Amino acid sequence: MTAIAYTLRAGDPARVATPLLAVLLPADPSVPRSLAALDRTFGGLITRAIRQRDFRGGRDETLLLLRPGAGGGPERVLLVGMGSAERVKGTHRAAAVAGRRANGMGVGAMAIWAEALDGESLEGAVAGSALGAWVFRDLQAAPPPAQRRKPLARVTCVVAKVSAAAKAALAAGEAVAAGQRIARQLGMLPGNICTPDHLARTAREIAKRHRLKVAVLGRREMTRLKMGSFLAVAQGTRQDPKLVVLEYRGGRRGDAPVALVGKGLCFDTGGVSIKPALGMETMKFDMSGAGAVLGAMEAIARMKLKVNVVGLVGSTTNVVDGDAVKPGDVVRAANGKTIEIQNTDAEGRLVLADVLHYAKRFAPQAVVDAATLTGACVIALGHVTTGVMGNDQGVVDEVLAATKRAGEPGWQLPMFDEYKELLKSDSADLRNIGGRSAGTITAGLFLAEFAEGMPWVHLDVAGTAYSESDLGIMPKGSTGTPVRTFVEFVRGRAR
Ligand code: BES
Ligand code: MN
Ligand code: ZN
Repeated sequence: MTAIAYTLRAGDPARVATPLLAVLLPADPSVPRSLAALDRTFGGLITRAIRQRDFRGGRDETLLLLRPGAGGGPERVLLVGMGSAERVKGTHRAAAVAGRRANGMGVGAMAIWAEALDGESLEGAVAGSALGAWVFRDLQAAPPPAQRRKPLARVTCVVAKVSAAAKAALAAGEAVAAGQRIARQLGMLPGNICTPDHLARTAREIAKRHRLKVAVLGRREMTRLKMGSFLAVAQGTRQDPKLVVLEYRGGRRGDAPVALVGKGLCFDTGGVSIKPALGMETMKFDMSGAGAVLGAMEAIARMKLKVNVVGLVGSTTNVVDGDAVKPGDVVRAANGKTIEIQNTDAEGRLVLADVLHYAKRFAPQAVVDAATLTGACVIALGHVTTGVMGNDQGVVDEVLAATKRAGEPGWQLPMFDEYKELLKSDSADLRNIGGRSAGTITAGLFLAEFAEGMPWVHLDVAGTAYSESDLGIMPKGSTGTPVRTFVEFVRGRAR
């Protein structure tokens, strides 16, 4: 789906000529004074709906009103509830509901109004409506002409004043939306289309669009760098594995960059430690961390944040083959540590081990990685919350704050030394699994071995990067998490 064109408009919402005006209201609303004219245009229907409690402003609640009779202004009003959520969060979610509904109705264009839409709430309205309107139909035939509906192509945000700040908020919302669109698109594409090559190509496109430096390392370069851990996963596939490096320079020359690292397993069969067939197709989403890094780089470059950022993606496909790595094999990672691969399905950490070590050459001020790393994280936190761990509590707190601002909840898990026992191997420096207990934590501790010396935070997005059910504000599939968290973290570090 192509991008939605966003514009700002000041003035009375009653005067906005649009097929659909979304009016975002809090729980138990009264009719705001600024909607008096609109209410009159609609023959008092808005007041009546609220007074009769046909509309209560609950979270995700909607009520569609058609304008009685002809005349100017909006043809339809969609009341959307924000519930009792805090304003920015409520606006984001209600705008997503509106965006999805508008896209489904086929009206083509929509206006959004909320009380005092500005700054953060305006950014939320833009990013939210784009998130809600997004659908993935690239691999399906278009419906017959009679059934086709116009995709949502234009959104007008009705604000009190078209100020410089409002323009900036609109642009920021569009930037986030563009980033999430990349991440979600990559997530939806199956393993035969979204290959390591495809991720590298996408990175090159982003680099070209924003004049970023880009480098792509393949098997040959990784062999030279002695990335035995990453290469062990890649030895089962004929596809060339890719380590993609994108460099955005928005900060001062010489300022240490923030590094964003993503797991990019274009498909994860488990390898010789093969996964059960049922549901295996969801492992096309195993590159979601990488997709989020690429999406975040797009958003950050669009926003022109004053900070240096390097995006690193480690991409390959975990498949079965005569030459594939086997349980018990011992490999040496680029940092010199030997790893006993007891389970070939714990491959994400093997890839990230060498990518994290590689990140050290940028002497980053902080590293944040995102990975669909463990099924255990889905068991612990479900599909609502991202698992957060790190070796620097200050940076962990900063990332947790970013998850809050982003509306992508995260929760810290402990990295107590006692858990390290579980990673001991009889034959190597460490093994790549820790047994059934504390699976998310042992995976995090494994990564920590390769992030030594850098302030580092790990996001386990196994449960949050994609959804197996419709979420109301978005269809099942890739969610775009944690693009916004990445962006918020980097923003927090910008000058
Ligand atoms: N990509 C999976 C983790 C995953 C599982 C993500 C379910 C999303 C949903 C990862 O590579 C994996 O297979 N992890 C293993 C680790 C185990 C062998 C220690 C897992 O979680 O089962
Ligand atoms: Mn796996
Ligand atoms: Zn995996």
